[in-house]
Amino acid sequence: MTNKPVISSTGLFTPEESITNEELVESFNEYVARYNAANADAIAAGEMEPLEPSSVEFIEKASGIKARHVMAKEPILDPDVMAPRWEERPDEELSILAEIGVAAAREALERVGRDPKDVDAVLCAASNMQRPYPAMAIEIQQALGIEGFGFDMNVACSSATFGIQTAADYIRSGNAKSVLVVSPEITSGHLNWRDRDSHFIFGDVATAVLVEDAAIAPADHWDILGTKLKTVYSNNIRNNFGFLNRAHPETEGTPDKLFVQEGRKVFKEVVPMVAPTITDEANRLDIDPHGIRRMWLHQANSGMNRLISHKVLGHEASPDESPTVLDTYGNTSSAGSIIAFHQHSQDLAEGDIGLICSFGAGYSAGTVFVRKAA
Ligand code: COA
Repeated sequence: MTNKPVISSTGLFTPEESITNEELVESFNEYVARYNAANADAIAAGEMEPLEPSSVEFIEKASGIKARHVMAKEPILDPDVMAPRWEERPDEELSILAEIGVAAAREALERVGRDPKDVDAVLCAASNMQRPYPAMAIEIQQALGIEGFGFDMNVACSSATFGIQTAADYIRSGNAKSVLVVSPEITSGHLNWRDRDSHFIFGDVATAVLVEDAAIAPADHWDILGTKLKTVYSNNIRNNFGFLNRAHPETEGTPDKLFVQEGRKVFKEVVPMVAPTITDEANRLDIDPHGIRRMWLHQANSGMNRLISHKVLGHEASPDESPTVLDTYGNTSSAGSIIAFHQHSQDLAEGDIGLICSFGAGYSAGTVFVRKAA
């Protein structure tokens, strides 16, 4: 059988450092105390609003997040900095986003003994690229010793599933036999660590998915039964950072140049968009949604995942049916559903059907139905 796309392997890079909710809130509340003290007179005169403290209980209850991995813990927790910091690297050195993408990709290749020379293409699919060009994917391609081609693609939290469909289409059309979809997500760079409503949301990670033609894939792979992508424009998750900011120097560093969201609206609008996208696609593929063995959902909020999985499965999903990695990783944007798949798929049996599903800014949603081959 040729031109039949399958998932051959996945890889994961997890930064060593991690921040607990307790550490995060302690630092945030120190920033709030200092800000309110520095502006005490204006606050007392009613000219300024005081900042409100954050709370561990709120974060855990509202999101399910208990900790997040980051690439630079110390500056993020420093109340005077509250942002990641590292040395700028010379052009000759591998850039930091490529470095973590390469680490995840190497794991995916090594797990199945795939020689980089036999990979045809690299897609770097992530929410934030380190620079506009040369493409991150081409730097990753070069570092791995892959011939062929690479390019970047960004569909925010849905980047990885959109990348998987793109890779699958290359296999279906015969344009490639082996495609790496790499999602390095250094989300700590776009997060506003001084914003109480969202400072707890994101974490850093990188994932890789090796999509191949069944003809060359290892026996122990996942058949891709079908993929479905959907986008609907919304301003409720937005980041205005970009190269044209220099045209407006007076607003260059304002908070809208980082991640901003209307979390409540996102919750209310995305759940009704995603659940029918999944069930319609299941029906198209002749899959009984109630028979889905496991759902590897986008990891943004445990409440959202509870609602979506309930609507699809027809009952409250057990952790076995809808595993979470939110507690230790936080929201890792496009990498979340891939981490869940990477960590919680080995135990499934031949013939079991599962669903990788992403959703987020755009709005965007992507589904990848898979079946364990052996
Ligand atoms: N600590 C303590 N209290 C906080 C807080 C914090 N860090 N942040 C907000 N609050 C307070 C608010 O001020 C508000 O108080 P009020 O009721 O007195 O007005 C209350 O908690 C509820 O705030 P709200 O923003 O409505 O919380 P929520 O229950 O909607 O949870 C999110 C917030 C972001 C966790 C949730 O909306 C969410 O996850 N939405 C989906 C987000 C998503 O998927 N985004 C995609 C990103 S890719």
